[in-house]
Amino acid sequence: MGEPYPKLEATDLTRTFGRAPHQVHALGPVDLAVSPGEFVCLVGPSGCGKSTLLRIAAGLLRPSRGRLEIRTSSSHPAAMIFQDYGIYDWKTVLANIRFGLDVQRVPRRAANARAADWLARMGLADFAHAYPAALSGGMRQRVAIARALAVEPELLLMDEPFAALDAQLRTILQDELLELTQSTRTTTLFVTHSLEEALVLGDRVLVMSARPGRIIATRRPPFARPRTGGIRSTAEFTALKDELWDLLRKEAVPA
Ligand SMILES: Nc1ncnc2c1ncn2[C@@H]1O[C@H](COP(=O)(O)OP(=O)(O)O)[C@@H](O)[C@H]1O
Ligand SMILES: [Mg+2]
Repeated sequence: MGEPYPKLEATDLTRTFGRAPHQVHALGPVDLAVSPGEFVCLVGPSGCGKSTLLRIAAGLLRPSRGRLEIRTSSSHPAAMIFQDYGIYDWKTVLANIRFGLDVQRVPRRAANARAADWLARMGLADFAHAYPAALSGGMRQRVAIARALAVEPELLLMDEPFAALDAQLRTILQDELLELTQSTRTTTLFVTHSLEEALVLGDRVLVMSARPGRIIATRRPPFARPRTGGIRSTAEFTALKDELWDLLRKEAVPA
């Protein structure tokens, strides 16, 4: 089956902040491997170290112990999407989407064509020359997704990308992301505190404990690909969600 090596591999990954006696043990130890083409969701209670793990994966933070390796080629490195969009307010929508391509030195004409293609795919064609301030939250997050995917990353890191959106919009963007990642087969590590989101999107769902976050359960949602958001209303989905919710609830309520 394809390439043998995981795109992302964490071993004994641990992170603390500060020093004794005020040290905060934020994460770990965590062992995790994400295979090429796999969509892995990490769910866990607020403050359990999910963002810390993703920031380490993105190279923004160092582990205190253990390691996290990313195996991507330099021409298609990892791309990260945050919950607060992370798009540039002073650039037009088109320029935002072209940004990563400019960094990769894709020639201007090709970059414009690829950006326009992503604009169309995300339903933003009419907004190419608008500034983000003129867009709704959902549209801004679509810009962020288009910008990340336009560089055709080998690994997509997403930290609660839909957390700031209302429930309806969130469902719509989940379904869009499902369709996109099933067509591109982009390897994805997706962090959320929503079980439903994790079960809709993931090949594998990893449940984390309260801080310091460790992986306490793993499930493979048994829904064939390509799947659609319709699985949300199946009995299997509800049963799996209830089962994992029981686990999470125990973590959310301190003993
Ligand atoms: N830079 C930092 N300095 C000190 N503590 C931090 C820092 N970043 C995160 N933490 C703490 O580490 C824990 C995990 O945070 P975080 O990774 O943001 O959790 P999550 O994303 O799961 O909500 C929290 O207790 C948080 O307060
Ligand atoms: Mg977080």
